[in-house]
Amino acid sequence: MIDIRGLSYIVAESTDLPKWKNYAENVLGMMTSAAPDGGLYVKMDERCFRIAVQPGTRDAYVATGWEVQGEAEFNDAVATLRKSEIEIQVGDAAQCKQRCVQQLIGFNDPSGNRHEIVWGFKSDFARFASPVGVSRFITGNIGMGHAVLPAVKFEETLRFFRDVLGFGLSDMFNFQPGGDGPSLPIYFLHCNNDRHHSLALAAFPVESGCVHVMVEVESMPEVGRAMDRMKAHDVLQTSTLGQHTNDRMISFYMKSPSGFDIEFGYGGAVVDWKEHIAHEFTHVSLWGHDFSVGNTK
Ligand SMILES: [Fe+2]
Repeated sequence: MIDIRGLSYIVAESTDLPKWKNYAENVLGMMTSAAPDGGLYVKMDERCFRIAVQPGTRDAYVATGWEVQGEAEFNDAVATLRKSEIEIQVGDAAQCKQRCVQQLIGFNDPSGNRHEIVWGFKSDFARFASPVGVSRFITGNIGMGHAVLPAVKFEETLRFFRDVLGFGLSDMFNFQPGGDGPSLPIYFLHCNNDRHHSLALAAFPVESGCVHVMVEVESMPEVGRAMDRMKAHDVLQTSTLGQHTNDRMISFYMKSPSGFDIEFGYGGAVVDWKEHIAHEFTHVSLWGHDFSVGNTK
């Protein structure tokens, strides 16, 4: 099995890069710089970027970047994926330069979500200095946050992540949109770090290609300030403040310029996996998280 150490980055596509730049700097409170493809790097720690926004004809999510520890682990990942009959594309020098890594492979999971596995990030380690004074984002050894992806071929995709990519089950939720109707599973998965989940798979399609991406700050006032910035910049709020049952994250949700949501939170659980017992929870939040605020129709 592949030993994924964390969510390294995400890639988005945008028809309006200036809008993304403004959102990244003035709402998220992150830094931006020009990417080699004419796109935008969004920086939230000492790395050159954690969100790469590429110019395009759609506003959508493009890919999820996962990192392994080093070259040997990368070679293992390539061999394991080849054995699994998943078709992989080996990144060329330009693509590696684009992602600021030594080596890269790309592939689609069984539901068609795009992923990349990389090793050896390259950075000038320029200090993170938020343009709006965010103290820091919680990244490092637990990755940049988490991504929740649509998995229409749910069972197959779940098996792929568990059996090939080596993710472990953190816990499960069965979403019942119509009351008594059929439930839609959302499974929360961890890779080889202590963050409660780096990935969740949701058994429904999402037009933008992603349900949400979570970024984490180090204090509750930073979450409140981000809510003020969201309002000041007329960004659509898609959930009120609340606290999740499973990872204890206190967060709110808002729309990104690429159509998927950003969960902006504080206090996410780090877990000792030797002690953890997988379970099903029946309420997503201990309090708050009213997602009806995002219904604009
Ligand atoms: Fe989340």
